[in-house]
Amino acid sequence: MNVRHRTLAICLSLGLLTAPLVSWATVVDDQQALYQDNGAGPFNAQRGEQLWQREVVNRKDGRVRSCTTCHGNNLRLAGKHIKTGKVIDALSPSVNEKRLSSAKKIRKWFKRNCKWTWGRECTAQEKGDFLSFIQR
Ligand code: HEC
Repeated sequence: MNVRHRTLAICLSLGLLTAPLVSWATVVDDQQALYQDNGAGPFNAQRGEQLWQREVVNRKDGRVRSCTTCHGNNLRLAGKHIKTGKVIDALSPSVNEKRLSSAKKIRKWFKRNCKWTWGRECTAQEKGDFLSFIQR
């Protein structure tokens, strides 16, 4: 039992946490454990935040891209898709309980967004750091 699981268990027994909160924490733990199996870790929210703001010039259009391009700097606020103009609901599970609750979604969007933003897939280390930052 790691520290988070123990904390969760204590909070649960005190009835302090709601069900959706439990599910995203568990999903994130499981994902990070998988990344660790691939040699990554430990993960760090501050490093995740730096990666979040990391700017990469796109080879095709010569413009700067970062995760903030669509999601903004404040994960508790909604973002806006740079291409479609559509609103993207806040990414922070603290204000949006649907976030980080599905491993499938996390995998899908990491793949797509890393490729679009940085021109390559993110490493296991980067993904683990991102998750620590997003769930902070
Ligand atoms: C071109 C716009 C765009 C950029 C840039 C972008 N994203 Fe996203 N991202 C999206 C959209 C669209 C969704 C899914 C929409 C939704 O679920 O509301 C999404 C969803 C996600 C999710 C899924 C969260 C969940 O559990 O529902 C994660 C994680 C994520 N993005 C991380 C990143 C990271 C990390 C970067 C930078 C490497 C990034 N995004 C850059 C558009 C973008």
